[in-house]
Amino acid sequence: MVNYILITGVSTGIGRDALRLLHSKGYHIFGSVRQEEEAKKLTQAYPERFTPLVFDVQDHKAVAEAAKIVFQNCSALFGLINNAGVAIPGPLEHLTEEAFERQLDINVKAVRRITNLFLPLLGAHPEFNGTPGRIINISSVSGLFSSPFNGAYSISKHALESMTDVYRRELRRYDIKVIAIEPGPIKTNIWQKNLNSLEQFSETDYYDVLQNANKIIENAEKSAFPVTKISTLIFKCLTLKNPKTRYIVHKNKLVFKLLAFYLPDKLVDWFIHKTLSKGDKHRPI
Ligand SMILES: NC(=O)c1ccc[n+]([C@@H]2O[C@H](COP(=O)([O-])OP(=O)(O)OC[C@H]3O[C@@H](n4cnc5c(N)ncnc54)[C@H](OP(=O)(O)O)[C@@H]3O)[C@@H](O)[C@H]2O)c1
Repeated sequence: MVNYILITGVSTGIGRDALRLLHSKGYHIFGSVRQEEEAKKLTQAYPERFTPLVFDVQDHKAVAEAAKIVFQNCSALFGLINNAGVAIPGPLEHLTEEAFERQLDINVKAVRRITNLFLPLLGAHPEFNGTPGRIINISSVSGLFSSPFNGAYSISKHALESMTDVYRRELRRYDIKVIAIEPGPIKTNIWQKNLNSLEQFSETDYYDVLQNANKIIENAEKSAFPVTKISTLIFKCLTLKNPKTRYIVHKNKLVFKLLAFYLPDKLVDWFIHKTLSKGDKHRPI
């Protein structure tokens, strides 16, 4: 019997590698992409046990159409991997309302919409008699620690952390496990997508610090793990009998935990302020 897994955002990065690994383990993958062209390419690469779903998570109608395909093709989902996401940097004061809304819609609201659509296939249904599926939310260490100038992203991932806890507690009655994966820097395009994106703030008071942004992004990339680190963990979360509720993936977990949970806020604020102005030293958490 083949088990079915749905992954959002399989065109690149973490989602793409999760598709590779989980497909190699024998699962049938429903993978979402935004471009028809990408769907064709992936169908050629995975002629069996792969169904592309073409939607932008912000397009409610396209998501509903894609859901029909999933419901027609399987009666249960082994897993739902909420991976699609964007990072929109900039000082909170100057981010446009549209940019802030887009950040929250893609990284938070769409996750709820998509999760709710597929809950019946994961086991939240009175007539469901299969094995309950698992939900894995690709969160971030930014959901535990708030970095300046990446505030909208941090806010979205904090909300996703909370959403993970709420779903886990609400879905306990169906035995649907809900898990957050919280990566630090991972080598994907998400970093390159943001290079030079802060130029638009060059007229603001914050620009002295933002000028170092490219260096900071380069530093983050240097300390980044390969994507396989996350896909392997996704597989573990899907298959372990008793997975943890959240997994931090960070090269220096101890320092991260110290900064995020134990050191006084004012000391952390001082440290960030001191290193931010020296872009070559600062690493975003
Ligand atoms: N890389 C890191 O260091 C890191 C660290 C912590 C957490 N994460 C999280 O990991 C997840 C995957 O990111 P990644 O690093 O693999 O970046 P990525 O390579 O940029 O992949 C993001 C994926 O999400 C898709 N996506 C973005 N906006 C979408 C939309 N509106 N509708 C549908 N799909 C959309 C992208 O599709 P397109 O190709 O069409 O844009 C792409 O497939 C994100 O949730 C991110 O926040 C990443």
